[in-house]
Amino acid sequence: MKPLNVLSVTSELFPIIKTGGLADVAGALPFALKKEGVRVVSLLPGYPAVMRALEHVEVVREYPDLSRGPARLISATARQLELFVLDAPHLYARPGSPYLTPEGRDWPDNARRFAALGRVAADIGQGAVPGFVPDIVHAHDWQAGLAPAFLHYGDGPRPGTVITIHNIAFQGIFPADLLYELGLPPYAFTVDGVEYFGQIGFLKAGLRLADRITTVSPTYAKEIQTPESGMGLDGLLRSRSKDVFGILNGIDDSVWNPSSDLSLAATFTVDSLERRSANKQALQERLGLDPDPDALLFGVVSRLFEQKGFDLVLAALPTLLADGAQLALLGAGDTTLEESFRAAAIVYPGQVGCFFGYDEELAHLIQGGSDALLVPSRFEPCGLTQLCAMHYGSVPIVSRVGGLADTVIDANEMAIASGVATGFQFSPVNLTGLLDSINRAKALWPDRKSWRTMQLNGMAADVGWSRPARHYAEVYRSCLPTI
Ligand code: ADP
Ligand code: GLC
Repeated sequence: MKPLNVLSVTSELFPIIKTGGLADVAGALPFALKKEGVRVVSLLPGYPAVMRALEHVEVVREYPDLSRGPARLISATARQLELFVLDAPHLYARPGSPYLTPEGRDWPDNARRFAALGRVAADIGQGAVPGFVPDIVHAHDWQAGLAPAFLHYGDGPRPGTVITIHNIAFQGIFPADLLYELGLPPYAFTVDGVEYFGQIGFLKAGLRLADRITTVSPTYAKEIQTPESGMGLDGLLRSRSKDVFGILNGIDDSVWNPSSDLSLAATFTVDSLERRSANKQALQERLGLDPDPDALLFGVVSRLFEQKGFDLVLAALPTLLADGAQLALLGAGDTTLEESFRAAAIVYPGQVGCFFGYDEELAHLIQGGSDALLVPSRFEPCGLTQLCAMHYGSVPIVSRVGGLADTVIDANEMAIASGVATGFQFSPVNLTGLLDSINRAKALWPDRKSWRTMQLNGMAADVGWSRPARHYAEVYRSCLPTI
């Protein structure tokens, strides 16, 4: 098969810049796609963390004026990834998160910042860098949503275009009067273009104008085509349903591998599961939990926002912690939620241990040391933490939504009897549902043989990138330009 060149346009890329799972996916796909004959070069904004990570830097194009300032397009490598970086200090040389001011508000010029990314992606797509002419431009999330639009409205031949929705809750909606400044033609402002309820929708533009649409699980692909979960875009998605594909995420075995993970107190495999107890002990010590090897230890690794449902866990705490069970929480986000968990750690000393912030090592230790991982999301496009949990022998307790529904096999009576269960699912997503699944987990915990079977099932599940990468390659090949 003909080798393909793909330009992946993303605002995050693990291990260089990450706020969530988008980074993990964008960082893993290039390696997985190599085996499918696909060469991926990723285009990233030149955030400070990105600029610091670069090696083999070469300036391949200069922009005297891009979104109100000079910019350079750099070709480089970082951590064995091939990159283009948009070095535009007036847009990206800022402290903190890629999207928010240090006070936690959206940067007021986010429209300009990410229109520039889309504009440059389209230039590369149209051959601006002769050494790398993509067959496909693959845009991730709203930040890259204008790339397919600029290509659509551009002159001359263009590559095929794919957009992936990692989370339809974030859409990049901006005032209509920015149209000219963002470099979009007046005729783009229609319902079949970038217009979205009288404004400019970056994600909407990508969904309307890309050749193919993917999202990160089959169930989420269906959910977003319903008014309940489509967040205003369901009609558009239904009208394009033959071009919409749900491709499950994987996890990167070179990052998430319990047999070689340096963040663990003890590495382990399916044949040495008992070594996990050293991780449990290290985790209890790290978060100030009682050193009890028999306590059922629930873990959490998450952004703490409405989507993730941790207000339900707070409400469930008395039941969760009954019988001496414990909670180890790593999270960051909503300050009210953080405060409530901080207070819970005082009310339940030795039973609730929290760390607020971002900590890659602790995330690994929680996966390798907890007995169960809580993921009570109200919606979840795919979710990666339940995959990591399964891979690390922690039993996921998840709501039955999106990718959580697709990746966890519920421990109902039949699944237990036939020995295929990998976790616990609950539905609907409310306190009663969560409590029910917690109680089911607690009831099974003393039956260590069944628990161990679930751990081993989870560890045996295929959570790698090979299958998804094959699917992405098929999608790319289905929309190659015909000339
Ligand atoms: P989302 O992208 O919606 O946040 P995912 O489950 O897809 O959810 O991905 C979350 C990723 O971020 C996982 O790799 C998880 O380990 C990581 N993560 C989340 N919160 C933290 C944290 N506080 N510290 C370290 N890693 C975190
Ligand atoms: C988003 C979603 C999450 C998904 C991740 C990577 O952040 O919230 O469910 O796993 O993107 O696709």
